[in-house]
Amino acid sequence: MRTGFAGKKVLVGVTGSIAAFKVAGWVSTLAKAEAQVSVVMTESACRFVTPLTFAALSGNQVHRELFDPGGEERMDHIALGRDADLVLIAPATAATIARLANGLADDLLSTAVLAARVPIIICPAMNSRMYLHPATQENIGRLKKFGYQVLTPGEGMMACREEGTGRLPEWEEVSEYLLRALTPQDLLGERVVVTAGPTREALDPARFLSNRSSGKMGYALARTAFRRGAQVQLVSGPVSLPVPPGIDCKFVTTAREMREATLGRSDWATIIVKSAAVSDFRPAFEQAEKVKKETAPRSVELAENPDILAELGKSKKKGQLLVGFAAESANLEGEGRRKLEKKNLDLIAVNSITSETTGFAADTNQILLLDRHGAEQLPLADKEQVADMIWDRAAVMIKSRSEEPGKQEIQACRQ
Ligand code: PMT
Repeated sequence: MRTGFAGKKVLVGVTGSIAAFKVAGWVSTLAKAEAQVSVVMTESACRFVTPLTFAALSGNQVHRELFDPGGEERMDHIALGRDADLVLIAPATAATIARLANGLADDLLSTAVLAARVPIIICPAMNSRMYLHPATQENIGRLKKFGYQVLTPGEGMMACREEGTGRLPEWEEVSEYLLRALTPQDLLGERVVVTAGPTREALDPARFLSNRSSGKMGYALARTAFRRGAQVQLVSGPVSLPVPPGIDCKFVTTAREMREATLGRSDWATIIVKSAAVSDFRPAFEQAEKVKKETAPRSVELAENPDILAELGKSKKKGQLLVGFAAESANLEGEGRRKLEKKNLDLIAVNSITSETTGFAADTNQILLLDRHGAEQLPLADKEQVADMIWDRAAVMIKSRSEEPGKQEIQACRQ
């Protein structure tokens, strides 16, 4: 599968920190994802990891010297930054951060960065006293003003055996920022609320009513919206997935908690996507004590939960895009269209829950996408790709809505 890194030219600047060995793994991952990786190492970086390591992992010769005669024929100090799609500096020491903050072009990496006009992502790694020193903080502030993305280091035990802030950020976080920098920003400026996962409705302290939603679909929607430039707030039921980097997540348990969290964010949102599987009913009475088998009633009285999506449809703001999901076992188009109309939606993603490759808990999904005027059958794909296909449609709708009201329908989009 081609990833967002495939074919992209990534320039990795490695500077002198013990964390350089971790970046060797990142370079290997990027190369396996079919990125074209070039590595520039500072003199002190070469004391921690040999250039041979990075050359072997990237599949390319490592660049080190500003005055390397071979390199200067190619004008490496300009070409490396100019020809990249993205520059990643990791680990970034206090010295390199200071050099870049002051435009000091005294080595190959700092000259290449000055010549670059592409996204620059910096991953500081150093002792926490050095990181928190006003000089470093001021330098980081300057880099941010230049438009560089400076990630916050992690906390914990460092190589110097001190606890604090200064650990190299984790690859899971860094890779999301790299992908965001490489992805067309067609959701830039959009404020997106995504709901994900199941709700749980307690019968007693031990038992609950719920469903098979894993949160995979909703988390994929949140992650891909972030990559496309949106600010994302996730409202999540209980799932065992990590919160994607860069995303603000509110965890809830019950449908009523999900209602409060979602409606509370709805005025802020320009797009709301309700992929959560909300329990339509809850036990009418929650028992404070665990119900004993011997005395348990043989039936449970149910109370109806609020329909959050229907409420959002009633209070929809002008220009806001409301996207629902429908989990169906039969008559997909009919049921989807009924919910689209009844809940006043702009778009609905209908998925079958009778196949092992679609719907609940699967890694893949297949969506029938409906709006007021058209239907589009999307292919079976992994949930991240499906999320991107839904965003493709939503991005066109929201753009055409702000430009020409009334032109947002699927048929119009296809012309
Ligand atoms: O989480 P995964 O394992 O990845 O699975 C993904 C999924 C199958 C949960 C997802 O793709 C999906 O179909 N989500 C919607 C499930 C659902 O509740 O469908 P529904 O047809 O019952 O509800 C229709 C819409 O109304 C949904 O957007 C739902 O969020 C919303 N709803 C439903 C009931 C309710 N009380 N309040 C709601 O807001």
